[in-house]
Amino acid sequence: MKFLFLNGVNLNMTGTREKGVYGVQSLEDINAEITAYFNYDTCEFYQSNSEGEICTQIQKAEEEEFDGIILNAGAFTHYSYAIRDAIASVDIPVIEVHMSNVHAREEFRHKSVISEVCKGVICGFGKYSYILAGEALTLLIANKDQTV
Ligand code: DQA
Repeated sequence: MKFLFLNGVNLNMTGTREKGVYGVQSLEDINAEITAYFNYDTCEFYQSNSEGEICTQIQKAEEEEFDGIILNAGAFTHYSYAIRDAIASVDIPVIEVHMSNVHAREEFRHKSVISEVCKGVICGFGKYSYILAGEALTLLIANKDQTV
């Protein structure tokens, strides 16, 4: 199994920004825990503050035959039609994740322009949102012949 964990804008500040919301661990530490948790052939991690770069990584993941993408697009989630179109353009499943429960926060975070083109959404479980999304993708791929 080959998964891409893709993080968007400001996620590089995890561990130092809004610690009460996103926790005290850095993204590097969280990624190391994800690698230790999953025993896949490939867990790749990429973070960018650039919207276009996130689109490029989504396109590349399909070209490089990744089995799926776990995407925390950060604030891009709420307004990026470019990322939405990039997700819609690829055939591999994309799971939308958020560490915080966006529905329990400010109104502007309640709207996601990418949910509609994602396979599913997981939010509110801190760093475990990534692991839960990885588990969901694993189940989906293992049972892809079954309609859910
Ligand atoms: C976030 C939630 C977004 O609303 C916010 O802009 C982020 C992080 C989360 O992981 O909870 O940067 O995606």
